[in-house]
Amino acid sequence: MNVVFMGPPGAGKGTQAKFVCEKLGIPQLSTGDILRASNAAGKLPAALVQAMDTGGLVPDDVVIGLIGDRINESDCVGGALFDGFPRTVPQAEALGAMLAARGLKIDIAIAIEVPSDLLIERTVLRRTDKRTGQIYHLKYNPPPPGADVVHRADDTEESVRTRLDAYARVTSAVIPFYEEAGVLKRVDGVGAVGEVTKRVLAALGV
Ligand code: AP5
Repeated sequence: MNVVFMGPPGAGKGTQAKFVCEKLGIPQLSTGDILRASNAAGKLPAALVQAMDTGGLVPDDVVIGLIGDRINESDCVGGALFDGFPRTVPQAEALGAMLAARGLKIDIAIAIEVPSDLLIERTVLRRTDKRTGQIYHLKYNPPPPGADVVHRADDTEESVRTRLDAYARVTSAVIPFYEEAGVLKRVDGVGAVGEVTKRVLAALGV
């Protein structure tokens, strides 16, 4: 199954992706994670680091290239969960073409919906375990004592507001793209993590 997870920053895409990937036995392909790993390895050009840290989008050709390389890996043969990609209509078209060349398609696109006022708190108080990638929240799901957590450089209130704006101006156009393709499901992302997981799995029919 090839699945897209959409939603504004802090909607819970990464949190829910972990459960879904485990359940379906498919890899999580997060362009945000791939870009951060590249930055941590000192391989991301300074202009792209700047774009990410200030809440802007990385150019389409960069992320399309990253996903194009990643879906060639053997663990993607049975499908993948695309987390935070596509974020523009040209990215959605490119993903469709890359999958079609392999006789595949997006089976379902899940839009996780959360009101903007909750997203600032979710992102600014997020912490991520450096080693495992486990996502925590200082209020709702605090890291255990001794966990080695980081605060993302783009999780400042100012940067999150820019990311929310980019979502509203550009990325939200991908929702009608998948709606017209007949594969869009909307999921209410407000509530306990476990409740949202149940809604996501129900939308996926698993
Ligand atoms: P990316 O890493 O994709 O960030 P994002 O889309 O802004 O999403 P987040 O990771 O912030 O949120 P999430 O929805 O995964 O939420 P999470 O589960 O962590 O992208 C970062 C940047 O990279 C972009 O701004 C851009 O610059 C660049 N980029 C990436 N992909 C790109 C692309 N395709 N094109 C161009 N540029 C690209 O949850 C958030 C917090 O809430 C956590 O603390 C969590 O514990 C908590 N939480 C989760 N669920 C709940 C719940 N139900 N109740 C309470 N708290 C919850």
